[in-house]
Amino acid sequence: MESFLVKHMEFSPRRRYLVRFQPKRVPHTFADVLIIGGGIAGIRAAIEVDPRLSVIVVTKDVLEQSNSAYAQGGIAGVLDPLDDIANHAADTIAAGKGLCDQTIVDTVVGEAPDRIRELVDIGANFDLTDGEIALTQEGGHSHRRVAHALGDATGKEIMRAMRERIRQRDSAQIWEKTFTIDLLMHEGRCRGAVVWNPKHGKTMIWAKETILATGGAGRLYRESTNPEIATADGHAIAFRAGAVLRDMEFMQFHPTVLYIPGSSRHLITEAVRGEGAYLRDCHGQRFMDEYDDAGELAPRDVVSRAITDRMLKTSHPCVYLDLSHLDHSIVTDRFPHIGKVCAEFGLDLARDQIPVRPGAHYMIGGAVVDQDARSTIPGLWAAGEVTSSGLHGANRLGSNSLLEGLVFGLRAGRGAAHSAADQPDDFRALPLVSDWDDDERVEHGHDEDLNLVDVRNSLNSLMSRSVGIQRDNNGLEKGLAQVDFWDRYVSVREFSEPQGWELQNLLLASRLVILAAINRKESRGVHFRSDYPNSDSELAQHITLSAPISEEVQ
Ligand code: FUM
Repeated sequence: MESFLVKHMEFSPRRRYLVRFQPKRVPHTFADVLIIGGGIAGIRAAIEVDPRLSVIVVTKDVLEQSNSAYAQGGIAGVLDPLDDIANHAADTIAAGKGLCDQTIVDTVVGEAPDRIRELVDIGANFDLTDGEIALTQEGGHSHRRVAHALGDATGKEIMRAMRERIRQRDSAQIWEKTFTIDLLMHEGRCRGAVVWNPKHGKTMIWAKETILATGGAGRLYRESTNPEIATADGHAIAFRAGAVLRDMEFMQFHPTVLYIPGSSRHLITEAVRGEGAYLRDCHGQRFMDEYDDAGELAPRDVVSRAITDRMLKTSHPCVYLDLSHLDHSIVTDRFPHIGKVCAEFGLDLARDQIPVRPGAHYMIGGAVVDQDARSTIPGLWAAGEVTSSGLHGANRLGSNSLLEGLVFGLRAGRGAAHSAADQPDDFRALPLVSDWDDDERVEHGHDEDLNLVDVRNSLNSLMSRSVGIQRDNNGLEKGLAQVDFWDRYVSVREFSEPQGWELQNLLLASRLVILAAINRKESRGVHFRSDYPNSDSELAQHITLSAPISEEVQ
């Protein structure tokens, strides 16, 4: 791993385990490799595991539902002979504003063409031009290098092909609608996880090796492109287990999220601007040239801040995407999915002004992994959005994340499989008990005094206000105090359903994001501090966070 200066902070979560469990009273099961998460990183890992080994893939919803399946724009990779891998690396590093790890960048972008062709081999149908994979442009890329599918539903098509592949694998069990509560740690090593589903209640899954691939955290915020499942669970469970997390202050906001009261906050892919769409304010004025020479194709952080500024200046809650000057059939052929969503609200994507504003999109920070996808906890591997691999630095380049999920998913699957194959088959349940002090026992399944939805909505609003596109010390400190206050009465409770655990995870992740943001006293990439509006070269360092090491409960 490239060496950067690191500012490390220790911070105690309120609980090591969110629930109590007594091994004698909880069912157990065993697998060579446990994979937590059913998005691109988790499924790519599962595909890579030797079929002679047993695999359990646990996913919180059904396999069809993952953040990866929502990806529109595509997957970046050098497929055009006129492009160069060095260009892709240089663009990634330029976007990352001094915090990318060059070795990781070179590895990931260097593997991109192979990983994309491999998707074709397993049956993903990319859009073609003259028989070759069609490539589009996105902000920050110096060349057209984003492969896409179904026009604007790339993630959906890739995940279809990958799901079909893994469902054919007899050695892989898929546990859908199963919530991972916590990682099981014994003698400093990850040994699997305690999970819950409505049919079986809590189950302890003991595994020789565990892979964390739970995805993102967009639902920390009120407006997000992410599906409802993106509640930072993996970030929180990794942290509680003792993993080192890094770069948590870097939440990337996507500039163009559909803003229609009553509609879900639907992503409108950057590729629409790649194909020539304009951004206009409520007076019909194009404004991006006032903020950046690259205009509408400036990097995302620049466009998001410019839109926010314009909304403030015009006292209007959104700006507008204008595709009306583009060829009608190109718009409808390239963006059928977005066109359909707009049509549901009476808008014609090709003719009307489409209201948009920024929304939380991608959590750059996460569990630190090395180039083989090993986390800082022995026995725990991690891949995708839940990690901090060093690829994105302080600002992720569009369409590099599906790629990262594939590259690190493969590495995690391969590494975990090799390591599991070397271990004896002497599985047994370990004498691990999670218990709480008697005076702390407050059991709450359905608690009429505590309205979880209300706390969650308040948290979402607070995060958007205090640690959104622009932050300052005052707002961050107040935000932290408020989250601490909520956490004090939410996290002492023991819940019996995902709604409560999700809220506990959201509160913990919020505290980590705010703490990191307070401690980065400069602006860099997606982290913009109005009280420190410039980058400080002395602070080109990572901020890492971990819980003080305490041996697992009993
Ligand atoms: O705009 C988009 O399609 C988003 C792509 C990405 O976040 O990678």
